Amino acid sequence: MIDILAIESSCDETAAAIVRDGRHILSNVVASQVELHRRYGGVFPEAASRQHTRDIAPTIRQAMQVAELDWDDLSAIAVVNGPGLAGSLLVGVNAAKALASARGLPLIGVNHMEGHIYANWLACDDGPEMPPPFPLICLIVSGGHTDLVVMHEHLVYERLGQTVDDAAGEAFDKVARLLNLGYPGGPAIQRAATEGNPEAYAFPRALNVGPFDFSFSGLKTAVLRLVQEMRRDQGHEIETHRQSFADASMAATKAELPVADIAASFQAALVDALVTKTVQAVGQFDAAEVLVAGGVAANQLLRERLTEKSPKPVRFPPIRYCTDNAAMIGAAAYYRYLAGYRSGLDLDVIPYLAIV
Ligand code: KG4
Ligand code: ZN
Repeated sequence: MIDILAIESSCDETAAAIVRDGRHILSNVVASQVELHRRYGGVFPEAASRQHTRDIAPTIRQAMQVAELDWDDLSAIAVVNGPGLAGSLLVGVNAAKALASARGLPLIGVNHMEGHIYANWLACDDGPEMPPPFPLICLIVSGGHTDLVVMHEHLVYERLGQTVDDAAGEAFDKVARLLNLGYPGGPAIQRAATEGNPEAYAFPRALNVGPFDFSFSGLKTAVLRLVQEMRRDQGHEIETHRQSFADASMAATKAELPVADIAASFQAALVDALVTKTVQAVGQFDAAEVLVAGGVAANQLLRERLTEKSPKPVRFPPIRYCTDNAAMIGAAAYYRYLAGYRSGLDLDVIPYLAIV
């Protein structure tokens, strides 16, 4: 039995979990900072790292208590060392080093995006019984990443494509801000879209980048232009000639916008682009299954459309493991542990760490 304590503090959640044999969650504690950052409309890095400093010790202690384990029962301590915000990553990495050093346990640095992928290995009552088979096509869609990769075996990735501009989650967040739907944007857009017509506006799908690449800035700008036009028609001109999201957002507050229709049409366009490229990749590479990972994997429309269009079975983590948590880090760390990966106590944070 390999029990790993995993720590995650890369962005705005302080999280600790204990995972047995890479699949079984003994505890999973997340201290969310959503309320703290809501007033800024996004993550405020300094406030994030300071909140991690306050939350890290109680979060780890709670994870140990819930799992009812002693330190001697652990096989290793895993921690995310990138990608993410440097000041946030440092808090988790330093806590993990202190614990590993004090308890004489191996330390394993884990890539946050690899953690998102391995959320699909966690055993859950509401998930498939068998772990994913290789080779896999992985669509990784988070606030900072949009990647399409082939996973040939554990820990081995080949990148097929990525976003050339905004990440999918970032596009959700920016458009939500433009429509004054609040933060985080993905769930807010999804909620607003339920009342809207996805065919109300024909937004661009930007399919003419690389065969497996994505681009969302054209879509984002099309939404911005539409909002600006509506605003102008309603006489809410802004004096400045700058046409930024912040300016348009202010005007959107005053203008009467068909928010539900815009949200639904935007979501449909973005999901369409993700599904089209992923299905093309499945056709070209003889994958056994498709995995979706990252916060945007929680999106209901993406879950439905990809499942419907993919010629191969599609796997999503249960919604609660799509967004940032430490259980997924414990799952990835187990396979790193088995493969002999160990980090030194000089482990550094790498804000732009890539998996391939
Ligand atoms: O993976 P994650 O928790 O953090 C990063 O590693 O970035 O992803 C957060 C992103 C945010 O952009 C958020 O708006 C998006 O995931 N997200 C969603 C949904 N839930 C979270 N996007 C679309 N639909 C959702 N239901
Ligand atoms: Zn994440």
